[in-house]
Amino acid sequence: MPRQSDGPEEVLASGGVTHVVRTGGSVRRPARPFTATVQAYLAHLHDRGFHDAPRPLGYDGEGREVLSYVDGDVPAEPLPQYATGDDVLVALATLIRRLHDAAAGWVPPEGAVWGAIPGRPPAGLVPMFDEPELVSHLDYCPGNVVFRDGLPAALIDFDLARPTTRVADLVNALYWWAPLSHPLDRAPALAEVDVAARVRVFADAYGMTADQRVLVVPLAIRRGDNAALTMRAAADVDPVFRRWWDEGLKDKIPRAQRWLAGEAQRIDAGLR
Ligand SMILES: Nc1ncnc2c1ncn2[C@@H]1O[C@H](COP(=O)(O)OP(=O)(O)OP(=O)(O)O)[C@@H](O)[C@H]1O
Ligand SMILES: [Mg+2]
Repeated sequence: MPRQSDGPEEVLASGGVTHVVRTGGSVRRPARPFTATVQAYLAHLHDRGFHDAPRPLGYDGEGREVLSYVDGDVPAEPLPQYATGDDVLVALATLIRRLHDAAAGWVPPEGAVWGAIPGRPPAGLVPMFDEPELVSHLDYCPGNVVFRDGLPAALIDFDLARPTTRVADLVNALYWWAPLSHPLDRAPALAEVDVAARVRVFADAYGMTADQRVLVVPLAIRRGDNAALTMRAAADVDPVFRRWWDEGLKDKIPRAQRWLAGEAQRIDAGLR
């Protein structure tokens, strides 16, 4: 018999990628091949004074990973009005800056295993960088950002964390929060916003250097091109990704690519 866990369990997420339950002050998630690597990374972040992420608490009697529960609210999509102001961009950019600064210099354990979108890497992917600079989150969708008092306060769900560069990581956040998607596919509160101005606000709050700013638009375009290939390949092998693809990604991704191509110059100019 598997050991019972330590109290009543509230299901936080199921039917998506991960079955997540809360038990008092902790959450339990299935252990996967990359779990030990993520737990070592989270431990490093806390050692370096970054506490706005779950604390890694090992495994329970059922072999699930245990993390501290992070207080706050995770916005549902479409993003509500309160999650779309410039103050939100500033808070998120400074949160990620602190994450990056804490992550820099971490040497992953020997044999580290990284999470990934399902499926083999498809032909045609173009690498986002030559050499990684640090390990970072790389998945800043609304469901992974915890708000307190109306502002991003912590990050959860480090399942896609892996070696990357600061700008490659930041363009993921910009995709979700600037956002770098077609107006038709945005939350109503974001449909009319000046994305170039918002990218600038985010870059300034992060403290992006001139060298980093030059990379934002080319890497955002590359991220979109790679996502088109990766999500298509994932849909071929995974039923959850198949549903996401069929229910909208198949149209949203090419619309975002076209929209970004049209706005690229304006966004780039706004960053200089
Ligand atoms: N440590 C945590 N503290 C607080 N809430 C959490 C924590 N971990 C997960 N949650 C809640 O559970 C939800 C899903 O968890 P998580 O993001 O880890 O998994 P997921 O793979 O994205 O799952 P899904 O794809 O089903 O959303 C989060 O959006 C959040 O509401
Ligand atoms: Mg998540």
